[in-house]
Amino acid sequence: MVHLSSVQSPNENGLGTEEDKLIRAVKKVHLQLANDEDNFVSSVYGSRFAGADLPRHEMPEKEMPKEVAYRMIKDELSLDGNPMLNLASFVTTYMEEEAEKLMTESFAKNFIDYEEYPQSADIQNRCVSMIGRLFNAPTSEEAHSGAVGTSCVGSSEAIMLGVLAMKRRWKNQRIKEGKPYDRPNIVMSSAVQVCWEKAARYFEVEEKYVYCTTDRYVIDPEETVNLVDENTIGICAILGTTYTGEYEDVKAVNDLLTKKGLNTPIHVDAASGGFVAPFVIPDLEWDFRLEHVVSINVSGHKYGLVYPGVGWVVWRSAEYLPKELVFNINYLGADQASFTLNFSKGASQVIGQYYQLIRLGKHGYRAIMSNLTRTANYLADSLEALGFIIMSKKAGQGLPLVAFRLPTDDDRNYDEFALAHQLRVRGWVVPAYTMAPNTENLKMLRVVVREDFTRNRCDALINDIKLSQGLLREMDRESIKRQEEFIHKHHTASGKATHNHPKYRVRSCGTLLGLFITPPCPTLLLCDTDRVNRRRNILSRARLARPMQSASAHMGSTNTSGWSTPTTNVPVELAESESESEATHSFTSIRKPKATSIAAAFVRRNHQAVKSNCLSLELPGGQKLLTVRIGCA
Ligand SMILES: Cc1ncc(COP(=O)(O)O)c(C=O)c1O
Repeated sequence: MVHLSSVQSPNENGLGTEEDKLIRAVKKVHLQLANDEDNFVSSVYGSRFAGADLPRHEMPEKEMPKEVAYRMIKDELSLDGNPMLNLASFVTTYMEEEAEKLMTESFAKNFIDYEEYPQSADIQNRCVSMIGRLFNAPTSEEAHSGAVGTSCVGSSEAIMLGVLAMKRRWKNQRIKEGKPYDRPNIVMSSAVQVCWEKAARYFEVEEKYVYCTTDRYVIDPEETVNLVDENTIGICAILGTTYTGEYEDVKAVNDLLTKKGLNTPIHVDAASGGFVAPFVIPDLEWDFRLEHVVSINVSGHKYGLVYPGVGWVVWRSAEYLPKELVFNINYLGADQASFTLNFSKGASQVIGQYYQLIRLGKHGYRAIMSNLTRTANYLADSLEALGFIIMSKKAGQGLPLVAFRLPTDDDRNYDEFALAHQLRVRGWVVPAYTMAPNTENLKMLRVVVREDFTRNRCDALINDIKLSQGLLREMDRESIKRQEEFIHKHHTASGKATHNHPKYRVRSCGTLLGLFITPPCPTLLLCDTDRVNRRRNILSRARLARPMQSASAHMGSTNTSGWSTPTTNVPVELAESESESEATHSFTSIRKPKATSIAAAFVRRNHQAVKSNCLSLELPGGQKLLTVRIGCA
């Protein structure tokens, strides 16, 4: 019987035996161990660690028990949001226990040690092959002539590698033709994910944008191909934009290139769509079936269904991956060919990807993606019934997400941001943001439908949206604003953040009062309405170090009276003014809506960490004064 035990006395315990005598003798020996404090912890919460703050700045001098360290950190992390309610992210939040076990067991493996972990390396190759075939990559029995690819940390690294390969290939060709190669450019949608801007800036490639319009949130194929010139290293086409999830028409771009006899390569950014379209809409031609598509990236950690940290890039053939970029190194006794930005990385994510590919198979992926598409349709229909305007495509014509906005003609006290804040109080993370440059006056909300977002949870969200709208209807404008500020400050990481170095901190709510163009020196006036700066009436002045090639090209289209039409690179300056009213006065004459897009282009290119969702157009007091809210570095 083990459940009922008596409380024993020392005698009952038999402390009179020879063994007990020995124990008592040992206890008398005075041990002088280097242990000046009793570290024994009976309960984590009874320990002195629970009564003190956790070390923050300086590494502590002494150890803490592992149970305490685990519990204290776990408790702190419980204040993070619940990943399952985070409908902002495309990134996987659910994997089966068996996958988790396999991944945990591989934590100690450094993927780059091919010689030591040959099976992990082989598993990567199997994944590349499966993904390449899913994208209809050419295969060949002949060595080196079929498609090639590699795993990456995510689509961002994959895209960097894709851009580097296109740039080098273009450069090699220019050298061969004896032509200059100092002004490479890339053509892409203004709705690209930020990693494209990063790639262009890091690798010094000029960005040529095809701008979205208020009723087109993807590239216009004709405009795209028209932007191509001899310095174009490639075109980016997105299979599922981050804003609305819509698929760009890769085939139309491809066919136009063929029609015009152009040989420009296309890289498809299939970060999200790469694991959706092949299952839900297999007849859509967007991949290596199209002759100009030379490379494709996909995030394994989005609809590839693996926890964060894995992406893939595949090239049509080795011809599109210049060999100067591939490093053949002899490391730990093995010859390795690698094309990555990083050296060491864990093997777990690659192994997790292989698990999903063979565990689910095409049938499993199709079943999951079909469910997600159905749920997204259901959510879109329900929101439409509530009066929202749906901006994303339904029925599998785009990613399983719902981008929606409030009707513009409604007489409401609240906007999309206020609704997002209300939902945040109820635990949901549904981001509100503004559309890509040129359309940034469109506010919207977006729900990404992921594997673990079931119909049941979808109903809970719809209910909470209804409740939040009811609550907002009861509130006046002032209280909504106060509440928004409070939630931003206390519930969001960006509001609470104090750790960024001042040099790189994003200041919110700068207001661009207008665009003043006097040839030959156009001037942008930036007035910072941040409360502190408002008091000081400081307006920023900054002369651009780098000419704005793309923005100036865009300025060329504002050829109406009062506007200059620079055709070449334009130096742009942020003007300084002593007071806001003076600034306002100087710019009341600016009333061309194009100013917003120019301002947006300016802001995007010249302020690091600027969020395009901070851009908006305001017409205060009926006066046609343009203001653009930005967050600038
Ligand atoms: C279209 C697109 N491209 C690239 C990325 C970057 O992908 P990753 O987070 O895998 O680096 C994203 C991320 O959301 C995306 O939506």
